[in-house]
Amino acid sequence: MAELTQNDLMYRPGLMKGQRILITGGGTGLGKVMAEACLILGAEVYICGRRGGVVEATAKELTDAHGGKCVGVACDIRVPEAIADMIETVWADGGALTGLVNNAAGNFISRTEDLSARGFDAISNIVFRGSFFVTLECGKRWLAEGKHASVVSILTTWVWNGGPFTVPSAMSKAGLNVMTQSLAVEWGGRGVRFNAIAPGPFPTEGAWARLNPGAGTDSEPADPTIPLGRNGEMRELANLAVYLLDTGSAYVNGQTIAIDGGSHLQSGGGFNRLASWGDAEWEAARDSIRSANEKDRAQRTV
Ligand code: HXC
Ligand code: NAP
Repeated sequence: MAELTQNDLMYRPGLMKGQRILITGGGTGLGKVMAEACLILGAEVYICGRRGGVVEATAKELTDAHGGKCVGVACDIRVPEAIADMIETVWADGGALTGLVNNAAGNFISRTEDLSARGFDAISNIVFRGSFFVTLECGKRWLAEGKHASVVSILTTWVWNGGPFTVPSAMSKAGLNVMTQSLAVEWGGRGVRFNAIAPGPFPTEGAWARLNPGAGTDSEPADPTIPLGRNGEMRELANLAVYLLDTGSAYVNGQTIAIDGGSHLQSGGGFNRLASWGDAEWEAARDSIRSANEKDRAQRTV
């Protein structure tokens, strides 16, 4: 179901007219709501994911609700050749992108000593390698064509203080944080700027199934240690993403902005509370996460 209307956004109608934005993982969750905000504001939007049916259904749902152009592309960003094909298709469809949101991710809670090499790779190949290769594929084109663009990466607050029980994600997101700072300097003078968003908890099906297994997205009260006493609202995240994508923020470069109600300042914002779990809790979590993974995997088309 479409989530936003123009009234949820802080910006004038048509703000993003003429902009072309790719949002990885835009078929669900935070990526979907950022896609919706850009579409409402007049941008042409591309969303990708491994479940072709999901990205196509989201693109249809959003254009049915708001009009405009939103295209779903089935692409696995773990595969550099698939990224190259996707970016070629997007450029051929209407010219250079003006913005990229590195949003696609994989994650699950686990004791670090229980991780296999494949478990580590399952996360880092999406977040760390995949996001870099999407950025590189777009960046090479922007630099060669002399185009201006804004790249926004969706991180977590763990990039500042670590992520116990989510170590492959925290390491990978920290890598993207450094990519943001490095390329802000290396490519900023050539028109391509880099920023990032570090969200606190925004209940989505994908994240809750793997980080809060067994709890529904609306059944749980917010973590009581969040200073503002609540989880984030989708429109709040969408407004920040639009700010960083649009030229209104053209002098902001190399920044990672937390949107977490102050959570990481108060409690670290991570999963350190899971230190009290024993084997039985971890086994139940693993079973629940694996069944969510299997359900999603069955829908993959690439
Ligand atoms: C230990 C686990 C595990 C678990 C999987 N593995 N779940 N190990 N504990 N709970 C291991 C498997 O046993 C296997 O290793 C390896 O990981 C690969 O598992 P697959 O299921 O084959 O992986 P794959 O199909 O590639 O799926 C990737 C995935 C999956 C990352 C595991 O979760 C996924 O596709 N997620 C996409 C969506 C998502 O995660 N969204 C949440 C983003 S939220 P072995 O050795 O056994 O073969 C987020 C931050 C939120 O990022 C921050 C909140 C504040
Ligand atoms: P989500 O709905 O599970 O979103 C993840 C998306 O990434 C899915 O659409 C998934 O689609 C896509 N994806 C995963 N692997 C991919 C691959 N190899 N190639 C292409 N697409 C891939 O979870 P979410 O909560 O919205 O998370 C979105 C972003 O916000 C992530 O970067 C996450 O780390 C970050 N974040 C979320 C929260 C939160 O509280 N929700 C907090 C902090 C940060 P397919 O499975 O179809 O590929």
